[in-house]
Amino acid sequence: MPQERIIVVDFGGQYANLIARRIRDLGVYSEIKLPESPVNEYKGAKGIILSGGPNSVYEGNAPKIEKKLLELGIPVLGICYGHQLLAYSLKGNVERGEKKEYGIAELDIVRENELFKGLDKRQIVWMSHGDTVSKLPEGFEIIGSTKNCKISAMGNSEKKIYGVQFHPEVVHTKKGMKILENFIKISQCKRTWSMDNFLEGKIEEIKKQVGVKKVLVLASGGVDSTVCLAILSKALGPDKILAFHVDHGFMRKNEAKEVRKALDKLGYCKLQIIDAKKEFMEALCGIINPEDKRIMIGELFLIVKDKKLKMLNMNPEEWVLCQGTIYPDTIESARTKHADKIKTHHNRVEQIIELIEKGHLIEPLEMLYKDEVRKLGKKLGLPEKILWKHPFPGPGLAIRVLCSNGELEEAILKTEKLAEKKLKGTGYKGKILPLKSVGVQGDSRTYRHAVLLSGKLDWEKLGQISTKLTNEIFNINRAVYSVEPQKVDSIELIEGKLTEERVSLLRNADAIVREELEKNKIYYEIWQCPVVLLPVKVNGKKEAVVIRAIESTEAMTANFYRMNPKILDKIANRLMKLKGISAVFYDVTNKPPATIEWE
Ligand code: XMP
Repeated sequence: MPQERIIVVDFGGQYANLIARRIRDLGVYSEIKLPESPVNEYKGAKGIILSGGPNSVYEGNAPKIEKKLLELGIPVLGICYGHQLLAYSLKGNVERGEKKEYGIAELDIVRENELFKGLDKRQIVWMSHGDTVSKLPEGFEIIGSTKNCKISAMGNSEKKIYGVQFHPEVVHTKKGMKILENFIKISQCKRTWSMDNFLEGKIEEIKKQVGVKKVLVLASGGVDSTVCLAILSKALGPDKILAFHVDHGFMRKNEAKEVRKALDKLGYCKLQIIDAKKEFMEALCGIINPEDKRIMIGELFLIVKDKKLKMLNMNPEEWVLCQGTIYPDTIESARTKHADKIKTHHNRVEQIIELIEKGHLIEPLEMLYKDEVRKLGKKLGLPEKILWKHPFPGPGLAIRVLCSNGELEEAILKTEKLAEKKLKGTGYKGKILPLKSVGVQGDSRTYRHAVLLSGKLDWEKLGQISTKLTNEIFNINRAVYSVEPQKVDSIELIEGKLTEERVSLLRNADAIVREELEKNKIYYEIWQCPVVLLPVKVNGKKEAVVIRAIESTEAMTANFYRMNPKILDKIANRLMKLKGISAVFYDVTNKPPATIEWE
């Protein structure tokens, strides 16, 4: 193990591993520990970072740290929950904030200090919190404030202990990397970590894990599973690798054919395409709840795989299963100890966890983020077209076809009135969508309504309104802009199940959007662009599609993409010509408070 290291304590924050990964980006080896780890395990570490988390420090069961950890003389940086925990543990005070903050904020650096060395006095930072530090611990001083949060950053330079309420690890904090770099300097840590070390170590690890067996890979054709195949092929040679591509019927247009072509060309493995459309549709057609869909899909992948193994007379004892799981799949599925469940990724259902525990499954990329996977893929010689393909979730269109039995779960009138009040004087009208979708706020899952905005297209204004409404109205976690129709008089929820017809409608809409992004040369500017089908009637006609184009680095945070209005118009016109589509909305929400996917 490298000697020079910084330890990140994981309190269940959505970004705990991202902090470790940023530290690695800065060339320092970093590892994660749980708050329960004994203090002696920290000895020799050069720095300690306390992560964010979904709890409030004053809750009885909230994870804490031993006070001794702060007395080792090792520099400490607390982030979000970690910042609050520092205040709580050192006899300051933490309270529920009057105003919650999700998104961009302006930080004023109010005192010169080592953590903010070299930064301008005003900084753009990213916040995601409800609680706030209301009293400093003894020996600390305020080093940064925002409008809504006076003690946004605090420090005790003598003890080298610092706390920040914002998230320096996410890309939206403009100088976040500089702040982390300053912390590395405060820690006096040497910078000797690299992706080459990672690859060498992984190849040796895979050889050991697989031993004399062979490997069966569930390959979607996306960048993660393809990079997995590339490493396996380097470690074991293509003859020991078989890949199954399960076509569950929720793939994009022509996907199976394209996957076959691409993987045959790369030559990393033998490939079998399994047509399981019927099994999946039969099992899913009655399910409305998105989590139930996800769990069913994850389980079916394994059932279909086992059936195929039997058909091919393959002895399961001779095969190790391999998946291209990456870190966000684990954290969002609440498979780290203190994390809140945002959603169950298809590769994180119970049966998979059992296989991992028995040593029957390997996941070479499990600690990496998408952009790190891409870097690794580049090192392994993968073509750009595969490396920069938009991510596509395992459960595919099945989750993007939103379902409903047509009954409104709760009244929205009050929320609508509140939204109207807040929109006064903005030039926009607002209606509440009568269905809910998943979001992530302050490290916790939300399942809330979206507000539909009509008015002139002005991305900056729409972005500001979206942040304001999601921050200030409890029942809202998203905002969408109505591209077509421009004037919305009514929106009604209707019954909509997962049917061949609806999936095929969405597949066609998705293909149109993708084609236009490519034609207009903005495909690679956009990180991902889910297209979603909503079971609603707008102005008396059904149904609506949402375009969710985002910019991101690693999918833990994202900004909505400001699309050229002319291109958006072209896309909307083509979508409106599809039989069954009567409205086109454009998502103007960042992550948080919304997730990238709608479900
Ligand atoms: P969210 O919606 O949580 O998505 O902001 C983050 C990224 O993860 C992808 N995603 C999945 N990928 N299996 C996957 O392989 C899944 O079950 C799954 N669910 C979401 C999503 O498309 C986005 O890129």
